[in-house]
Amino acid sequence: MVDQAGISALGIAIPDTAIKLSDLAEIRQVDSAKYQIGLECDEMAICTDSIDTVELATKAAQKALSRYHGSIDDIGLIVVATETAKDMSRPFSSWIQEKLNLKGALRSYEVKHACLGGTIAIKQASECVLSGAASGKAALVIATDQSLYTPKSPAEPTQGAGAVAFIIDEHAAIARIEKQSWSWSEPVYDFWRPIGHNYPLVDGPLSLECYKKAALKCFTQMMATQQYSAKALFKHFKAICFHSPFSKMVYKAFAELCTSFDFSENETKAFYHSHVEPFLKFNKKIGNAYTASLWISVAHALHDLKTNEHIAAFSYGSGFGAELLNFTKMSDSEDIGWVEDIQDHIAHRRTYLSQEAYIALRGC
Ligand code: COA
Repeated sequence: MVDQAGISALGIAIPDTAIKLSDLAEIRQVDSAKYQIGLECDEMAICTDSIDTVELATKAAQKALSRYHGSIDDIGLIVVATETAKDMSRPFSSWIQEKLNLKGALRSYEVKHACLGGTIAIKQASECVLSGAASGKAALVIATDQSLYTPKSPAEPTQGAGAVAFIIDEHAAIARIEKQSWSWSEPVYDFWRPIGHNYPLVDGPLSLECYKKAALKCFTQMMATQQYSAKALFKHFKAICFHSPFSKMVYKAFAELCTSFDFSENETKAFYHSHVEPFLKFNKKIGNAYTASLWISVAHALHDLKTNEHIAAFSYGSGFGAELLNFTKMSDSEDIGWVEDIQDHIAHRRTYLSQEAYIALRGC
């Protein structure tokens, strides 16, 4: 048995191309306030011909490996979580292995559970390390996705793309993944993509109800295992990160959660502004990157927090399944350049699609 498992390196990749939601609103002849205030989305990253989810995953993995104290030979497990599967049999991880020239004595597979997939992959990797089955080797876990909806559908303004890669091992140089987590699952059709469909089918209002219920079930279970009051427990965390299809959805779930714990409206807003909203900044610029969305928020928190501070991370995947994880920041001295990478990317390297280019890309 091993004492701890956690994140020892991290990398993020987002496409160079994006569209402003104000431009999408003009294209679809919708008041842009609906997207920017009603859904709280500013911009969404878009994959064009020059980059796909394999390229994103590879870039994120290369960045994580470049920040890792070990080498690629220390990887004993590669897991890729995605909703953008490329094949019904061949695992997505095989494409990444080809790009990284990663082969030999290792296990390689793909995980699918809508946006929850990345979380399942991270839990499996940490449990593999904790059990001793990893024999001192590390796991490379990647969440990579682009979310695309039927053009002109209500979900179109909540598209996005991105990948996050983690190296998980027993050193846990950046953050320890706490052993206990709290899960909830119910079989529901709130968002799904039947075989052969180019785009998912979405019952947006139902997905919001399922998400809120899942958050309540997971947080209530966590409360039951702690001696603190809900307020004391929330204060124990410096960041409470949520899977973010769009920021307004997070606020709605958080507000309902706080109401159930008897927080006043002012307390709810104060907790949201101090614990949740600061770590959604990049999500508002990237959009919904499905399996990677929660981890973009967690990566931001891991960058900002100090040693021994704690993060709660709520993961939701349609269908539906949810899990609430806790992390403890371990060291301030590790290479935490991933946030600067994103800031620099958004500020200097991002290209905005014109309205005409977006219409040409989507066909209408
Ligand atoms: N100015 C400001 N706000 C406006 C507005 C305007 N001109 N017009 C509308 N709004 C607000 C609405 O009041 C609403 O806010 P509220 O929910 O706080 O009341 C919000 O904008 C959205 O409007 P709505 O009419 O509900 O949007 P919609 O029905 O077109 O689509 C979703 C909303 C969420 C259903 C849709 O975006 C969707 O399906 N998204 C994907 C959900 C998803 O990803 N689920 C699965 C993963 S968990």
